[in-house]
Amino acid sequence: MIVQPAKRIRGNITVPGDKSISHRAAMMAALAEGASHLTNYSTSADCAATLSCLRHLGVRIERTGNEVTIFGVGPDGLRAPDAPLDCGNSGTTMRLLAGILAGCDFESTLTGDESLRSRPMQRIIEPLEMMGAQISSNEGRAPLRIQGRNSLRNIDYELLVASAQVKSCILLAGLNAEGETMVIENEVSRDHTERMLKLFGANIESGRPFRERESTRFAAVAGPTKLMAHDISIPGDISSAAFFIAAATLLPGSSLEISDVGLNRTRTGFMGVLNGVGLMEDIEVTERANEPVGTVQVAGLPQLLPLPDRVGSPLSLSGTTISQVIDELPLLAVVGSQIKGGIEIRDAKELRVKESDRISTTVENLRAMGAQVEEFDDGLRVNGPTKLRGAKIDPHGDHRIAMAFTVAGLLAEGETEIADAECVAVSFPEFFELLESVIE
Ligand code: S3P
Repeated sequence: MIVQPAKRIRGNITVPGDKSISHRAAMMAALAEGASHLTNYSTSADCAATLSCLRHLGVRIERTGNEVTIFGVGPDGLRAPDAPLDCGNSGTTMRLLAGILAGCDFESTLTGDESLRSRPMQRIIEPLEMMGAQISSNEGRAPLRIQGRNSLRNIDYELLVASAQVKSCILLAGLNAEGETMVIENEVSRDHTERMLKLFGANIESGRPFRERESTRFAAVAGPTKLMAHDISIPGDISSAAFFIAAATLLPGSSLEISDVGLNRTRTGFMGVLNGVGLMEDIEVTERANEPVGTVQVAGLPQLLPLPDRVGSPLSLSGTTISQVIDELPLLAVVGSQIKGGIEIRDAKELRVKESDRISTTVENLRAMGAQVEEFDDGLRVNGPTKLRGAKIDPHGDHRIAMAFTVAGLLAEGETEIADAECVAVSFPEFFELLESVIE
């Protein structure tokens, strides 16, 4: 894909349904009793992989475009698959399904593409084994062979890594455990599973157990429990909208409205960062499917405003903030290259085990565009403001790297070439087309 520099972007858009919420809706609908109708289901390849795995587990699914009807099989209704379940590139599919399969009385295998087969799975193997499942793996990586049982032991589990996927895996396994299964996290991660379990009728509680520990949360589900079908209209994906919001922020004279987008606070951390630079205009929030939804208006100002509390030092992202901006960090590194003082990202080692090693792929591509970047084991620092130069970008098959550097290409001098650009379909197949429709 060739990206030309853009003057500004303008328009009113919507983005496809949220990927994280779509995975959860499909899985819970499959386990529920009765038929659930999902509208605005994510168009991503990742969420298609979830539907395909569920079909191979015996779930009847009808799909027309973004409308999906799932005929839930009820408790103990999933059937042993006759081949390994292919999760493609999708960590969420693999980690959440593993929690469900741990509670099924049969053997199944979860596998995926080369990237997914290299990602750490010990983080889910350990708690699922404590709950009574037997799992063999390739030294803590997929393929995972899971021998489940339909009555698991309940556990209290403190997460070792901040991960909504691990939390969700354990809570879904908890649906088939005797008694209360509790997960404690010391950094706030996205809470879509907790919100959706409530909609599907599970007995779930969540909150802040200690007043003095601000970022500690618990979620506890009482099992064994049945889920009841629920129709869900899925909000637009804020992580897809993020690329448009950043582009509009950074291109002076831009004006963009994104409506019907999810505004869950565990996902909107990057907007706080952009707002800190002084650029977001307005947000209206209502609620749908137990999730906040609204409209975001963004205007690109003639000049980026320095943060009031920042005197020439880089904007710093670290600690418990990281889990709330985890998917937007490569994009924020690109944004950082444009703001006075640049940006420093620390405590973000998790980025090394995403769809690519997102620290090294971000550093490599920012350098290719002429930015001055320092790489750390747990993050990076990029100087700003820098006039980026068009370059050849290698996203290493990672959708979010391809999209973040497309935004960089819009700001650069000269032409940028994104190799292997079709990888954006992992989360956002319409990305380039939608972008073209708002570029002036
Ligand atoms: C996701 C959780 C995050 C995120 C991923 C989607 C989810 O991963 O990076 O894109 O839907 O639960 P971790 O939970 O492993 O941090």
